[in-house]
Amino acid sequence: MIAPSILNADFLNLKKQIEIINESEADWVHLDIMDGVYVPNISFGIPIVEAVNKVSKKPLDVHLMIVNPEKYVGKFAKAGAYNITVHYEACTHLHSTVHQIKDQGLRAGVALNPHTDVSLLRPILSDIDMVLIMTVNPGFGGQQFIEFSYEKIRELRNLAANLNPDLLIQVDGGVTLENIGKLKQSGVDVFVAGTFVFKSNDPLQTIRALKEKV
Ligand code: DX5
Ligand code: ZN
Repeated sequence: MIAPSILNADFLNLKKQIEIINESEADWVHLDIMDGVYVPNISFGIPIVEAVNKVSKKPLDVHLMIVNPEKYVGKFAKAGAYNITVHYEACTHLHSTVHQIKDQGLRAGVALNPHTDVSLLRPILSDIDMVLIMTVNPGFGGQQFIEFSYEKIRELRNLAANLNPDLLIQVDGGVTLENIGKLKQSGVDVFVAGTFVFKSNDPLQTIRALKEKV
């Protein structure tokens, strides 16, 4: 699956950007919520998710890069989220937060920063629908893909083989036509791409090219 991130889209023409995703072969719209505390950047919040939800025909994949995400799960659910992904590093009571997301009828994801070992998810792997392996440090679009990520993906795929064979593995950061094939081979199911799609000359065609590779 391909999930274009609108973080680097043209916000003055957000409706148009979502319509491009609607027309495209993309599977989800990826929405990056940043609070300026958990990550050194502030993006957008609940009103934008609500607005996107009014136009989007694709499910909303909400990636919370915020502290205390449990305070906002209900609000993002109401705003139209399909998935909510929280960071392992930002949750004191991760098991509880994951079940809070599921109790809203949503799919629960857990994101890992580049330095966080996948084995830490073992106790919770069978409770969740998706793991997001950050392939850059969260906070900004347009960064360089971290090569060690392949090893983490393979390790997670092995760990999930027994504990949760249906687990989706998502990657986020620096995904391009160059690395998407190798990422797929390593075991990735969902590819987030921001800059590569929205800074290209033809986002619709770029999404198609990515989709052809997966
Ligand atoms: C980064 C965000 C990403 C970002 C990816 O913290 O989580 O979703 O938009 O952007 P690119 O594809 O530009 O690396
Ligand atoms: Zn993201």
